[in-house]
Amino acid sequence: MSRVFNPVKSKFWHGTRTPLPSGRFRPPVDPSREHALSTGSTPAKLVSHPVTRLEGRVRAPGDKSVSHRALMFGALALGETVISGLLEGEDVLCTAAALRQLGATIVQERAGAPGEGGLWRVRGFGVGGGREPGNVLDLGNSGTSARLLSGILASQPFVSFMTGDASLRSRPMQRVIEPLSRMGARFVAREGGRMPLAILGTDAMVPIEYRLPVASAQVKSAVLLAGLNTGGETTVIEPEATRDHTENMLRHFGAEVRVSPAAPGEPGGGGKRITVVGWPELKARDIDVPGDPSSAAFAVVAAAIRPGSDVTVENVGVNPLRAGLYECLREMGADIAFENARTVGGEPVADLHVRGGALKGIEVPPSRAPSMIDEYPVLAVAAACAEGTTRMLGLAELRAKESDRLASVSAGLLANGVKHEMGADTLVVHGSGGPPAGGGLVATHLDHRIAMSFLVLGLAAREPVAVDDGSPIDTSFPGFAALMNGLGAQIGPDLEAA
Ligand code: S3P
Repeated sequence: MSRVFNPVKSKFWHGTRTPLPSGRFRPPVDPSREHALSTGSTPAKLVSHPVTRLEGRVRAPGDKSVSHRALMFGALALGETVISGLLEGEDVLCTAAALRQLGATIVQERAGAPGEGGLWRVRGFGVGGGREPGNVLDLGNSGTSARLLSGILASQPFVSFMTGDASLRSRPMQRVIEPLSRMGARFVAREGGRMPLAILGTDAMVPIEYRLPVASAQVKSAVLLAGLNTGGETTVIEPEATRDHTENMLRHFGAEVRVSPAAPGEPGGGGKRITVVGWPELKARDIDVPGDPSSAAFAVVAAAIRPGSDVTVENVGVNPLRAGLYECLREMGADIAFENARTVGGEPVADLHVRGGALKGIEVPPSRAPSMIDEYPVLAVAAACAEGTTRMLGLAELRAKESDRLASVSAGLLANGVKHEMGADTLVVHGSGGPPAGGGLVATHLDHRIAMSFLVLGLAAREPVAVDDGSPIDTSFPGFAALMNGLGAQIGPDLEAA
């Protein structure tokens, strides 16, 4: 049964964008104008109040990884690509703005209803056909935009400049600079390979065979994208499998991509060799973007940790390379049924039906990290409510996300009375088997997933949980608070402070 909106709760936000303090709201991002997101948005403190249970059906917002790639491949293809269900979060709009500067025509045909995603049209410039951007590319908070676009820009014969917000400017770019330099591009970066970044591209790139030193789909994708405008065959060897949306979509647009097991003796043995053949003519293709498992995670965990809850999140992408969280939750004893399994845009999709109940602690092996790299903060919240200890291992990459996520999660748990230990690449959470204390104020450090995770903790805690800045939520999940409140959460601005 769907939950009916209760006007008594109207102090909680039911709009589509994150509220700003004192009742002001940021205007919706106009996708037709160029962005200046890095100039800073106003912090918006948000509070999540404890509730007894959640109930209802919601639809997961469009997948962020697939949305970025749909715009980029549409731009690299000839003809018109129609994208339905595109995530209209700020990160994806940054990619759109950057591609427009390169010469793509990208228009929003119809804005998405809440949870639906928009209908967009892209007319591309073709592989190697971009033009020199007339201004600095401002990629806001978005690491995926920065890393994947580096691959496209490195193989174009002009200079481009990139920047981003304080979070993005602190994130490592050396991981893409290194392989793309080997192919022939040159870069000027701040110390430690940080942005702002100048990319001195060339259309005389040489193909390489590159073994990923970190399990990163962004680095893999940057090299494969550069390989498109490079004669010959460019190969990435990944020792651990990461999300394969780039490979799938390259094929969908007509590129030749070969994937084979890496031979046991060679570096990266046991993993995969992914080869793209250069200079394909990519042809426009329509794309239906499935819902994002990383965003669905918040409603799913919220329901799982409130006993008696009954929530269905529709249209969730369940690509096995993204579904590690759901494996963990099931091992913890969560009641999650994958209903109505089907294929959307070439990706497996299901409606996730969750019934809240008791959870128990588990050990999460390092090998699972690539398939749930963005979900550890919300898994830590589930672990805080579970009975017993949850050990999460192999988390070094969390330190290179929108914030040092390991440190941000640890600080948030500490502020809310959750016993835990953080190591260099481990997190051990001692769950109470019931509501955690709560009552803390969590610093989000421009990290959307830290904000959403601790707002989920608040609805299951004894005391409300506040986050100092909910505005980054709009990078990946515009309408998050409204969607959660529609299920019975009570998330809103800090009324006392207003
Ligand atoms: C992404 C890959 C992951 C993930 C990010 C999206 C992608 O990053 O954390 O949110 O779309 O390729 P890494 O490749 O750095 O692990």
